[in-house]
Amino acid sequence: MPGDLDSLLKEKRIFKPSLEFVKDSNIYKWMEKRNIKDYDELLELAEKDPEWFWDELAHELEWFEPYTKTFNWNPPHAEWFVNGKFNIVQNAIDRHAHGEQKDKTAFIWEGESGEVRSLTYKQLQMQVNKFANVLRDLGVKKGDTVSIYLPMILELPIAMLACAKIGAIHSVVFSGFWAKAFQERINDADSKVAITADGFTRRGKQICLKENVDVILENTPSIQKLIVVEHAKIPIEMDSNRDIWWHEAMEKAVFECTTEEMDPEDPLFILYTSGTTGKPKGVVHVHGGYGVGVYTTLKFVFDIKPDDIWWCAADIGWITGHSYIVYAPLMMGATSVIYEGTPDYPDPGRVWSMIEKYNVSVFYTAPTTVRMFMKFGEKWPEKYDISSLRLLGSVGEPINPEAWIWYHEVIGKSRCPIMDTWWQTETGMHLITPLPISDLKPGSAVKPFPTIVADVIDDDGNSIKGGGGHLVIKSTWPAMFRTLYNDPNRYEAYWSSFKNTYLSGDVARKDDDGYFWIQGREDDVLNVAGHRISTAEVESALVSHPGVAEAAVVGKPDEIKGEEISAFVVIKENYHFETSYETVLRHHVRTEIGPIATPKYIKLVGDLPKTRSGKIMRRVIKARVKGETVGDTSTLANPEAVKEIEKLD
Ligand code: PRX
Repeated sequence: MPGDLDSLLKEKRIFKPSLEFVKDSNIYKWMEKRNIKDYDELLELAEKDPEWFWDELAHELEWFEPYTKTFNWNPPHAEWFVNGKFNIVQNAIDRHAHGEQKDKTAFIWEGESGEVRSLTYKQLQMQVNKFANVLRDLGVKKGDTVSIYLPMILELPIAMLACAKIGAIHSVVFSGFWAKAFQERINDADSKVAITADGFTRRGKQICLKENVDVILENTPSIQKLIVVEHAKIPIEMDSNRDIWWHEAMEKAVFECTTEEMDPEDPLFILYTSGTTGKPKGVVHVHGGYGVGVYTTLKFVFDIKPDDIWWCAADIGWITGHSYIVYAPLMMGATSVIYEGTPDYPDPGRVWSMIEKYNVSVFYTAPTTVRMFMKFGEKWPEKYDISSLRLLGSVGEPINPEAWIWYHEVIGKSRCPIMDTWWQTETGMHLITPLPISDLKPGSAVKPFPTIVADVIDDDGNSIKGGGGHLVIKSTWPAMFRTLYNDPNRYEAYWSSFKNTYLSGDVARKDDDGYFWIQGREDDVLNVAGHRISTAEVESALVSHPGVAEAAVVGKPDEIKGEEISAFVVIKENYHFETSYETVLRHHVRTEIGPIATPKYIKLVGDLPKTRSGKIMRRVIKARVKGETVGDTSTLANPEAVKEIEKLD
């Protein structure tokens, strides 16, 4: 099982990157110039003087006006690059489009059907400027939010960057969510303008977006205009008062567009993520600190050099895509691959064929994808020449040592180090991660990034070694989220369990060498194929069906996906399902949240185990699903409910 504690505890292998690789790395060269002799010394110096470290890196970027102080830290509130003036787009596009890099390819995009589009920095600037003018003409101003619901097409980063350029705040909703998620997020962000597409193709099947957006826009009073990208060529209806075709608006738009000079603390985007309640959290990131943080981590962790071809195979709708497909690679002036479709479509060789075709040198994906490819077998990567690869990455969930070794040997030909990067939507950038100079242990995310103070603590806040405990961060970092949109109290809650300490919600273990081993979530958040889903969200989707009285959702360990959603439901008396309850409820959850939240297992029960105060004891159900002993059930009001669950297969 991924992240399995026993296999992690037994893991003793160490992999050292070659000396040649180390000496050629960005971080090594940076250290050499500063007479820093090794990794340990780097971490020590950076922890002692975070201001020095971040100030040096921030100076590699362009500031409209210099800042006067690197940061102020009054936990839980931080302010970075105080009194400066900055815009992330100035650094991501403008400085390259005006310089020697102007004809360098920024993005190579491949559609699921094989269609290819690419944009140089100059061309990207043209598109972004024009779209920024479209937004300005619609009355979008600095500080306004724009809600975006687009598939993995180039218009998505263009729209995000155009918002940032004029100081508007983008809120991107993953296109795999059902449109209802878009409705909730538009209403929370109070956007006047929304952007979508006619639809997209997934595994050769057309998925319509606009049709569903039309329905939800009846319940979003703030929306005045909807911009629609024509992509899948699905016939759709346009509302002449509200809807605007992207291509028509772009035809009329002019190129000249000034980049708004922002306070580094001005919001750049909101990205909603799952918490322990049913209400998603609107994580807010800012221009300055976020920009410096993602730029620095991409430069040092993934070692991006001018000739690299970078492929972060995530969706832009998640934080990985925001940080490491859109912002960081552009700030580095890199060339990135963006792929629209499914990694195993039309066959399990798709990803490897693209690595060969584009000479991808640094590749970043999730353990669930690695495990899926392991299952398909070595014959698929062996068909292609993937020798351009020099560095690999993993993100989103613990990578089990078996998958790590397969990734290293079969894909990395025992030559490419693997950067297992731990971070979250809230952290914005990698926080616990190897660097290309670190010794690697399969399954460990190694050590905190320079300046980050991370620890594993028990319930009393004492640091512990060996055993599992709360993974916490005790320092500020530039890309930390600044608040939760419309919910500042919930932001403070991250720091309320332990003084001046950020509680990540993950369980981890620290070994004798100070290496971190992340084991997974300790709260009611599931991690299905690297996607964060709250049990409460799935439960509330289930109980919104007229036939369901109560529901409890837990994660069931799964070899490929890490966890699968397992739901236990109590049906209302006298309710009859037209077809099988499983089919009906699965479909219902799909249309309430999206395919990623669809329960794999649904079991009917007469009652759910509850405390005397009526609270569902998910712990008991979880233990049952994991095949563990149920533990103390003396506080249960209805012990017979446990027996019923135990009888289920
Ligand atoms: O449980 C951890 C897991 O993903 C969670 C964060 O999810 P999200 O905000 O959606 O961001 C995912 C991409 C950064 C964490 O709390 N996680 C992320 N990276 C790792 C990980 N678990 C183990 N190892 C990782 N490298």
